[in-house]
Amino acid sequence: MLQIKAKITSNKKFKGSCWHCIVNAPSLCRASKPGQFLNVRISEGLKPFLRRPFSIHNIFGGKLEILYNVVGEGTRAFSGKKSGDYLDLIGPLGKGFDYVGARGKRVILIAGGIGVAPLLFLSKEIKSRDKLILIGARTRDQVLCEKEFRNSGSDVKISTDDGSRGFSGRVTDLLKNIIATEKAAKGAMQLYACGPGPMLKEVCNIAIANNLQAQVSLEEHMGCGIGACLGCVVKTKNGLKRVCKEGPVFYAKELIW
Ligand SMILES: Cc1cc2nc3c(=O)[nH]c(=O)nc-3n(C[C@H](O)[C@H](O)[C@H](O)COP(=O)(O)OP(=O)(O)OC[C@H]3O[C@@H](n4cnc5c(N)ncnc54)[C@H](O)[C@@H]3O)c2cc1C
Ligand code: FES
Repeated sequence: MLQIKAKITSNKKFKGSCWHCIVNAPSLCRASKPGQFLNVRISEGLKPFLRRPFSIHNIFGGKLEILYNVVGEGTRAFSGKKSGDYLDLIGPLGKGFDYVGARGKRVILIAGGIGVAPLLFLSKEIKSRDKLILIGARTRDQVLCEKEFRNSGSDVKISTDDGSRGFSGRVTDLLKNIIATEKAAKGAMQLYACGPGPMLKEVCNIAIANNLQAQVSLEEHMGCGIGACLGCVVKTKNGLKRVCKEGPVFYAKELIW
């Protein structure tokens, strides 16, 4: 785990309320694995007091990318940062995705909204030629990172809640359709998901019902981010686990919702 002050080289609006930040951080890039996260000190002052957790969205050439939705005080302050400013980062934190076993398998990534954030890095690292990402959004204007996933070698399918683009309905309904049509032909699939809690719960239920292996990245509220405050615990079959330390990625079969 490192703590560095990283220089921002770009921090721009990406789409709607979503922003994209690039920092110069070669040491962090070398240490980071898909699914891990950073705890970001956004302000030198007291507001916001706590660091905020963000997934490692992508790394390239010593630069690290964060994709974030502006939802409150901290992320609003984040969007006010300019290139040349510095961000105090602690990371990489947590346990990322286990993707060694995905080699040669049918891999389906499922993203809900800003849940695309950790999945792009994963999509780039997974050594499977048979990758599909399902990108779920409320409306067509909120579909994130379609081009970036295609560039990472993934096929892309889109779902929108209002039917304005792609499959009309929830991304988990799209997942169910795909499993129903592909399972016999493709055999074992590996699922990886990130998004809102109810979506992840449904992905876990679908995986268990179909006897598929799934890993989901949880976004719990966090205090310390380093395993000390117990502010982020979730129930698992092996007792309470800290999302910041034993997670944020968990196997579907171990979580108790
Ligand atoms: C491991 C991890 C990785 C994350 N990665 C990303 C990412 O890559 N991009 C991104 O945009 N966000 C990510 N988040 C969520 C992000 O940390 C919160 O959106 C952020 O802390 C909100 O800060 P704020 O001060 O702007 O909002 P606040 O003023 O603190 O809260 C505004 C609203 O956001 C909700 N919120 C706050 N924190 C969280 C949280 N941890 N999870 C869910 N809802 C929250 C609050 O309930 C409230 O409704 C991640 C969270 C975790 C735990
Ligand atoms: S945020 Fe403190 S233990 Fe996880």
